Amino acid sequence: MSELEFKSALITGASRGIGAASALVLAQSGVRRFLLQYNSYPEGAAAVKASLEALGAQVTLAQANLATVAGIDSFCAGLKPDWDILVNNAGSLVKRAKLLEYTPELFDEVMNLNVKSVYFITQKVAPGMIERKTGIVINVSSIAARNGGGPGATVYSAAKAAVAAITKGLAKELAPQGIRVNAVSPGTVDNHFHEVFSNRQILDSVIAQTPAGRLSTNEDVSDVIHFLCSPAARYIQGQTIEINGGMYMV
Ligand SMILES: NC(=O)c1ccc[n+]([C@@H]2O[C@H](COP(=O)([O-])OP(=O)(O)OC[C@H]3O[C@@H](n4cnc5c(N)ncnc54)[C@H](OP(=O)(O)O)[C@@H]3O)[C@@H](O)[C@H]2O)c1
Repeated sequence: MSELEFKSALITGASRGIGAASALVLAQSGVRRFLLQYNSYPEGAAAVKASLEALGAQVTLAQANLATVAGIDSFCAGLKPDWDILVNNAGSLVKRAKLLEYTPELFDEVMNLNVKSVYFITQKVAPGMIERKTGIVINVSSIAARNGGGPGATVYSAAKAAVAAITKGLAKELAPQGIRVNAVSPGTVDNHFHEVFSNRQILDSVIAQTPAGRLSTNEDVSDVIHFLCSPAARYIQGQTIEINGGMYMV
């Protein structure tokens, strides 16, 4: 992996999964200062912090529940716009629920966490990037944005489609300022997310439908995030890169 020219990174949802793997690969590539957001898993965040510090990085942790407006507001209020890389990774299905059982409160939670937080955290971080005429924003969409999601994941899939659209809109707005905005779109990652929202039978059926013959690892996704942060991706703007072993080809 090549050294990154960017030296500081804010990563949301960094206590486990794709966010934790992204923090590690960026630290291994030369990022030296991190702000890592987490919500309910301080032990995971502390373990990620310790791994990055062992690589010589300086790490600050911040707890925030980004599914609430108050949580987004207070996280954003404490943010300084001095990050070279922003990875908007925190996200969740929150709960599988079909149309007839979906509540307005659940709708707001899913949209706050997966869409609103992405837009307003970027709004707080962008001024520093604009001033320095350089910066990288990576958002995390989902295969659900393309296929409508699994059972009870309609609103989550709509939220992730919004993330892909925001990625295009912000890329157009910020590219003239030297900022690159892109997204990754994982398929089914064999991690905590699906421990909570799926079962072995569902995952085995995904494997059976996946040309690569396996589920994704966190690193399958974090390696693409790393690539998008690297100078090799310098002319890529507004793209959502599908990482799904061929399960869904655009
Ligand atoms: N796993 C998949 O198959 C898959 C597929 C497509 C897209 N994605 C997307 O990939 C991203 C990372 O998920 P993952 O797969 O790494 O899942 P994960 O292992 O469950 O990690 C999710 C991360 O998001 C944070 N988070 C969850 N709810 C939050 C809330 N209310 N407020 C603030 N932070 C919250 C978690 O923090 P705590 O642990 O501290 O609570 C955790 O750090 C998400 O945007 C997800 O939608 C995942």
